[in-house]
Amino acid sequence: MSITTQIAYLVASVLFILGIKFLGKTKDARKGNMLSSVGMLIAIVATLLTLEVVSLTEIFICMLLGGTIGLYYAKKVEMTKIPEMVALFNGFGGLASFGVALSDHFFKTEILGTQLDAVNSVSIILSVLIGGVTFTGSVVAWMKLNGKISGSPITFKGQHALNLVLLISFLIAAVFTYMYQTDPLYISLLVVLSLLVGVLIVIPIGGADMPVVISLLNSYSGMAACATGFILNNNVLIVAGSLVGASGIILTQIMCKAMNRSLTNVLLGGFGQTAATQGEDGPAMVIKEIGVEESAMLFDSVSSVIVVPGYGMAVAQAQHAVRELMEQCEKRNIDFKFAIHPVAGRMPGHMNVLLAEANISYDKLIEMEAINDEFPNTDLVFVIGANDVVNPAARTNPQSPIYGMPILNADKAKTVIVSKRSMGKGYAGIENELFGYPNCLMLFGDAKQTITKVVAEMKDM
Ligand code: TAP
Repeated sequence: MSITTQIAYLVASVLFILGIKFLGKTKDARKGNMLSSVGMLIAIVATLLTLEVVSLTEIFICMLLGGTIGLYYAKKVEMTKIPEMVALFNGFGGLASFGVALSDHFFKTEILGTQLDAVNSVSIILSVLIGGVTFTGSVVAWMKLNGKISGSPITFKGQHALNLVLLISFLIAAVFTYMYQTDPLYISLLVVLSLLVGVLIVIPIGGADMPVVISLLNSYSGMAACATGFILNNNVLIVAGSLVGASGIILTQIMCKAMNRSLTNVLLGGFGQTAATQGEDGPAMVIKEIGVEESAMLFDSVSSVIVVPGYGMAVAQAQHAVRELMEQCEKRNIDFKFAIHPVAGRMPGHMNVLLAEANISYDKLIEMEAINDEFPNTDLVFVIGANDVVNPAARTNPQSPIYGMPILNADKAKTVIVSKRSMGKGYAGIENELFGYPNCLMLFGDAKQTITKVVAEMKDM
């Protein structure tokens, strides 16, 4: 590799690291994205200039094809479907590493007739394992998220034992792959086993644990790319892969902490099995409704408001109406803030992105830990399309599947208004006892439509 390529790779790696650093703060996130993209461009150009096997024309045709498909889907995808798209992206990342590893193995052993050394062989085996698991695991996650298969955990007797047997078989096949490199049988076995393990480790996961799995698969796709970097002897791929792998693991840890679950518990747990029925046997809740006019009057009479946004705000695209509500409240000198739960919505940072799109300043968005003590002193909490993240059962009901998950203490405010269309459940599929609390009022209807009407009432006051 020429010194110019090495310097280009070094610059790209530094840009990736800076990019990730900037992504840590909402206000610098765009800058971080831009720096990482420039890094990727430098890495791609430098790699293209050191072409060995394929021609520039072939590469450009593939880039054009892939780029067009990517652009089409990125433009078409609805905000609420982003997690599914991320799941697919992870899967394709895994598939790419898997494909490179296999082709490298066959090219070197069958066509060139070389004997692979231990490092090369282990890198190929790891890339096949992690890439294969990431691919099929991500496809299953994508199917669960978009309802092609049931989102509930799929479990059966002896599942963990079967996984263990498959992993041990993989290890044995890996040793044989190294010993008999020209025999396609063993590497083919590795392929089948890794694809099967991917399916089997994701099917038992469901309900509110899906975001953890998506970020874990994201981390796997990075690790697979890192292993592929060792196969191709490409430093920038090793750096980029390890950054994705490490940041994915950190995000996974953050989400597990936010839901008070250990990673082992998520991977082995089968969350959601009890979720579908939980709460249905309890006493019927007494629900109090509030209309648009009364809501406007309530907003007009308070001095502090905390908004708790959730997935329903994204579905309704109510963020602009919420900004107008904020403007009306601020005109009346009402203290107005947003409480952001780490897993509100369907992807990390979902609420931050939506509210930023409506030009709501970052300093109004307060993280759960920082705002939770403020609820008891707040006049009015306005829950917009959030459900699981304000469900007091997480604190009060040891039988609840979400028991122990930290929630926003919205129920502790003087009054709570909940904007949602019906008594429908949230992602975890469980009843929310908050809706029956004496201080809680339900404002039924699509969030955008009802908030727009509340704002219109306030303007007329
Ligand atoms: P959810 O618990 O999913 O509740 C969303 C609520 O929005 C529903 O109860 C629904 O009730 C309401 N809704 C839907 N459309 C609406 C509309 N047009 N207008 C008004 N309301 C509407 O949301 P959450 O509190 O944000 O919790 C997130 C959940 O998703 C957690 O369980 C979390 O673990 C999971 N999850 C999170 C992520 C990430 S990373 N954030 C990823 C995947 C899953 P109605 O049908 O009655 O309107």
